Amino acid sequence: MALKSIACIDDLRRLAHRKVPREFMDYYESGSYSEATLRANRDDLEKIRINQRILAGASDRDLSQTVLGQPQPLPLALGPVGLTGMAYRDGEIAAARAAQKAGIPYTLSTLSICSIEDVAAAVQKPFWFQLYFMKDRGFIADLIARARAANCSALVLTADLQVLGQRHRDVHNGMTVPPRIRLQTIAHVLSKPAWVAGVLLGKRKSFGNVEGRIPGTEHLSSYMAWINSQFDQALSWKDVGWVRERWPGKLIIKGILDVEDAREAARVGADAIVVSNHGGRQLDGAPSSISMLPRIADAVAAETEILFDGGIRSGQDVFRALALGAKACLLGRAYLYGVCAAGEEGASKAIDLIASELDVTMALAGVRRIGDIGRSSLASGT
Ligand code: GLV
Repeated sequence: MALKSIACIDDLRRLAHRKVPREFMDYYESGSYSEATLRANRDDLEKIRINQRILAGASDRDLSQTVLGQPQPLPLALGPVGLTGMAYRDGEIAAARAAQKAGIPYTLSTLSICSIEDVAAAVQKPFWFQLYFMKDRGFIADLIARARAANCSALVLTADLQVLGQRHRDVHNGMTVPPRIRLQTIAHVLSKPAWVAGVLLGKRKSFGNVEGRIPGTEHLSSYMAWINSQFDQALSWKDVGWVRERWPGKLIIKGILDVEDAREAARVGADAIVVSNHGGRQLDGAPSSISMLPRIADAVAAETEILFDGGIRSGQDVFRALALGAKACLLGRAYLYGVCAAGEEGASKAIDLIASELDVTMALAGVRRIGDIGRSSLASGT
């Protein structure tokens, strides 16, 4: 299937599965444990009905939005996705370039394959850096300093991964970084020669931000064991102050699913929060992100900006989240499928598809501006 005939994110997803070995697609696609929360993210979004309005004179639509003080042409950002560089050679650079082209922020994950410096050298516009708080404070202070040196325009502190929610398929696959090609996976990998040539023979096959900086990590064979050894279960709100002292720029706290947590984030001075359950990858049994969005937005939208992620696969989904109080949506798997399918071009395709669906949805809902999308844009009873 050529990119030309791609009509929706689901088409990109099918193409992604054809291009990337199953072990990595499993890592990207999985939710934790029973995957109830992963499913709820999609199910609850799809249940929300949009109000159809006619003869509303909705021409000259304007999809621009201001996020963290920066005007941008779309109410979107690319969210942090670990191991994007295993989807496509230099996948993080591909995604960052697609975001730059669309004029929206890209968020580089701590657990990226390309390093902060690799990405900074490849784009002209500042990007956001996502920080995981690890036990080694010296390393975290250094990461923050590197993000400052790279001129990152926001720090996204992910706060919902103090321990890794198990994803069963990763356990079955023996997920490792760098990829350990075991007998049982050879067939999957050999069936994707373009991926082998692009990714496996590429320059980086490990976590670019960590490589060579934490002694011992180069020898860690298991990704999950590494995460579990590095992440700090004792983290508390006090630690946000520690980050704040080192990061004077915009601070976004990601992983908010509770009204009290949202209030606390606003109290500690977060410039924005991301209402998120980590794409259903952490607390299995947690509510969908979209079901928690309205009450969180009602509680804190006056004090902090509300960003949203969790199951966005279309412009209609973006419209639903904006109607329920989000200022902008972070894409995760939606753009990752594009990276898997065709690198930068694929990521651009994902952004363009969602932008065009959002535009058509606004026209059919009789809305001309992003700021006019509100609860009245939804059919009553949803
Ligand atoms: C890391 O962020 C993961 O979800 O695996």
